[in-house]
Amino acid sequence: MSKITDSLAWRYATHKFIKDKEISEADLSNILEAGNLAATAYGLQPFTFVVITDQALKDSLVPHAYGQQHVADNSALVVLAAATNIDEAYITEYTSRIEKVRNLPAGSVDGFKDAMVGDLTNRTPEARLAWAQKQAYIALGTMMAAASELQVDNHALEGFNPDAFDEALGLTAKGLHATVLLALGYRAPEDEWQHMAKVRKNPEQIIEYR
Ligand SMILES: Cc1cc2nc3c(=O)[nH]c(=O)nc-3n(C[C@H](O)[C@H](O)[C@H](O)COP(=O)(O)O)c2cc1C
Repeated sequence: MSKITDSLAWRYATHKFIKDKEISEADLSNILEAGNLAATAYGLQPFTFVVITDQALKDSLVPHAYGQQHVADNSALVVLAAATNIDEAYITEYTSRIEKVRNLPAGSVDGFKDAMVGDLTNRTPEARLAWAQKQAYIALGTMMAAASELQVDNHALEGFNPDAFDEALGLTAKGLHATVLLALGYRAPEDEWQHMAKVRKNPEQIIEYR
């Protein structure tokens, strides 16, 4: 078995983290950088990672997550927030950055910019948000894999009220919408979920060769 599948077999949705056992800053920043390195459509990265370590703030979010206590009892809670403000200016910021990073003359990626603007700004706001949220999930999976590689336990959560999170974290005014959560920390010895066998499809059920 390769290392990556070892790490993925080791990870499980951790429901109880060791209280007060913190992830090192180096590991946390590595996990976040993995999210930053995740592929996204066009490379636009239409999301922000809101990293919450403040205990009082995490505690205040539990009622908006159906009482799921591990939203608060962890070392860090990452709220992956999708962009709601993808417009020509948002896209131009990106294409200008491409030109700068790659030392290209101004305007040299205008064709790419126009294609993105044409594609994305012609979608309804709902469809644009759905697209941005799909990109955020790629970052989620990448961060979960990276955390597992570092033996940092993790749990993704969709069971929360996104509008209440937006309100509590002031996301709407920033052009963001809470999409999915990632709790990080270290598994508590008493967390019974770690002993449960993984339930996955057989390869024949999930892979179809043609
Ligand atoms: C996007 C996503 C959202 C999830 N939301 C929740 C949640 O709100 N509450 C919960 O208890 N588990 C949640 N889970 C955990 C899954 O139930 C769990 O990953 C799945 O049963 C497979 O188990 P494993 O991760 O331990 O292998 C979520 C997982 C993912 C990937």
